[in-house]
Amino acid sequence: MTAAVSLSGRVNARRLAQLLGSWRRRGSRHGAADLAAGIRLLVLDGLLPAGTGLPPERELAAALEVSRTMVGSAWDRLRADGLVVSRRGAGSWTALPRGAAAGGVIDDGDPSPRVIDLARAVPPAIPGVAAAAETALPRLAAELTGHGYHEQGLPELRARIAARYAERGLPTSPDEILVTNGAHHGFALALRLLTGPGDRVLIEQPTYPNAIEAVRAAHAIPVPVAMTEDGWDLDGLEATLRQAAPRLAYLITDFQNPTGFRLDEAGRARLGAALRRARTPVVIDETQVELDYSDGPAPPPLGAFAGDLVLATGSAGKSHWGGLRVGWVRASAELVSRLLAARRGLDLGSPVLEQLVFAELLAGSPDALGRRRAELAQRRDVLADAVRTQCPDWSFRLPAGGLSLWCQLPAPVSTRIAAVAQNFGVRVVPGSFFAPHGGLERWLRLPFVEPAETLHEAVRRLSLAAVSVAECRAPIPENGIVQVT
Ligand SMILES: Cc1ncc(COP(=O)(O)O)c(C=O)c1O
Repeated sequence: MTAAVSLSGRVNARRLAQLLGSWRRRGSRHGAADLAAGIRLLVLDGLLPAGTGLPPERELAAALEVSRTMVGSAWDRLRADGLVVSRRGAGSWTALPRGAAAGGVIDDGDPSPRVIDLARAVPPAIPGVAAAAETALPRLAAELTGHGYHEQGLPELRARIAARYAERGLPTSPDEILVTNGAHHGFALALRLLTGPGDRVLIEQPTYPNAIEAVRAAHAIPVPVAMTEDGWDLDGLEATLRQAAPRLAYLITDFQNPTGFRLDEAGRARLGAALRRARTPVVIDETQVELDYSDGPAPPPLGAFAGDLVLATGSAGKSHWGGLRVGWVRASAELVSRLLAARRGLDLGSPVLEQLVFAELLAGSPDALGRRRAELAQRRDVLADAVRTQCPDWSFRLPAGGLSLWCQLPAPVSTRIAAVAQNFGVRVVPGSFFAPHGGLERWLRLPFVEPAETLHEAVRRLSLAAVSVAECRAPIPENGIVQVT
């Protein structure tokens, strides 16, 4: 194979011996094969990044207290596998064989690196966004004669968002809608209005990582309540509301990110009653609510059970396109005007053109959203089948909506798999990202927003990473990167 010489550093003989640890299988008479296997794992695990300069054979032989012939023969094996490249006068360095390199597996001649990104659970734009922008453009002309500051949002858009709540069983007036720059912006505004430094904010564990960041950015303290294997621990939620007296709660009751669970009607009634007893306001993140692949009726929004305590956030992000950066908060008219006052210290409204585009999309035919649901449901099934066949010891509950599978691993290796997967050309976030204090090492979130063939390939690469982690003997440092000297 021809690999470019791109040394990412050199590893000296002493350090390589250290990384190899006890590389020789007990009683083995195949020293060269064992040594080659040890180095192979270090390369595939990313502990010896591709392009790392290797020590001269003589020095490594001395450090390992073996013959130079044994090192030479291990090097020959690694060269044959494409894991080591040597050039006279330049020495030897590590390489990833074709088929494992980030740029090599599905590039079929495409020279650009192809890393499959499963770190984000966000689909691309729904068809029709560009057409909606074209329709919206002439309507912008009418807005240009005004000042363009619609602090609460364009009345037309608020009316359309309110109408969608009414369809879902929660009568809503446009005064109860505040248009924001995305759902996350809505949560940040709620934190700004309702919490102060040191206040507790109840969250689910696992939860959406940026929500944890937002709580921390508000100098508040996330108080996690663990989800169970079946969904919400309602006893735990009730006890925490009573005992920890959180100033605010943040929950994703529809196709929770990352678990995919949906809280049923009885659960909503119980949660609503507990919130009312504790008088705790709650942000209900409804960003995934439109991604429902079930045939059954949807439970009513939580506002039907906890009234004015609920601030529901939603956005165009998952249903239409994240790039619009348009979302909303649905809350009582009184809370909306207080949110508006809190917003003035930050920003003065959302862009008019994007609001017009989103209003067009909401006014248009629901067919495109229906097709999106069908496509995502199909991709969910493809991913589920791929995991069942290629990673048979991983388990998951098939979610009825949302964007990801929350996979349980047979061992606490989520961070290691995420670190190693990069060397196989897949980006994933480990379970620990979904908790304020880490942990969740037995869990990995796999989004199903990519096309079927990419999902198949991603799972193939992840299965290689998992095998590699299972075989690896060397510890992975905290940052996942091994310093080579
Ligand atoms: C649960 C959840 N809430 C909020 C957001 C952010 O939404 P937006 O892009 O509308 O700010 C995301 C995006 O991935 C999400 O998964």
